[in-house]
Amino acid sequence: MNIIVTDSPEQAFRKAVDMIACEVLYNPHPVLGLATGRTMESIYRLLVKQYEASALDFAATTSFNLDEYVGLSATDPNSYRYYMQEHLFEHVNMSTSQIHVPNGIAADLDLECARYEAAIEKAGGIGLQLLGIGETGHIGFNEPPSAFNSRTRVVHLDEITRRQNSGMFGNDPTRVPEHALTMGVGTILEARKLLLVAVGKGKAAIVDDALNGPLNENVSATAIRLHQDCTVILDNAAASIWKNNRSNALNSIP
Ligand code: F6R
Repeated sequence: MNIIVTDSPEQAFRKAVDMIACEVLYNPHPVLGLATGRTMESIYRLLVKQYEASALDFAATTSFNLDEYVGLSATDPNSYRYYMQEHLFEHVNMSTSQIHVPNGIAADLDLECARYEAAIEKAGGIGLQLLGIGETGHIGFNEPPSAFNSRTRVVHLDEITRRQNSGMFGNDPTRVPEHALTMGVGTILEARKLLLVAVGKGKAAIVDDALNGPLNENVSATAIRLHQDCTVILDNAAASIWKNNRSNALNSIP
């Protein structure tokens, strides 16, 4: 695993954008796995800037988002489909047919999950999967416990996550949907490359659990350590506990 620690969140976002840009520029048919959330907003802002400066072209890019709330339609401002439209899709040259977000209002949600897995396979698999990390240690919406071989499925959202995400819902966790569709940990691990980005002091404890703690289905982000080609980009604040614990461990080697 390649762990990069930067001096500022801005530098972390720039490094992440460089990696995404490489994937888009050097593949004839790039397939990106995308995430949502506050961390990703800055990354999408920089990607849009690069597109506007003609440094990037998304015409051949296909995308698959990690997750979506159950019960929210694409036109609901709190849905992840809407978020993606607002932060990335409407600003770059990707056509609707290239964009995939799980359908949270599908009549048959299990069928929707199976359809999503099939669509990823048909696209040739995901080349680069972008990940954030939640307070529960989730990647996508893989709440504790999530089997490392889990696939796209309906999940019950942890109370901690509903609180974490309540900002979009008038700071009322009870208004955050109780269920979501998410790619599974197993689905995520099949991407050819993983890129996890975390910034800020608030992420320091869970980043340490993910990187230093035991491999553990109660912290789904620990699974990224099983991947052959995984990059983690952190700013100093998010890396602080991990760095401290790692140097303590090194110092205690006799
Ligand atoms: C959302 C997703 C989540 C977020 C995570 C961090 O699509 O995949 O795993 O990446 O909850 O969210 P922020 O960046 O808001 O702290």
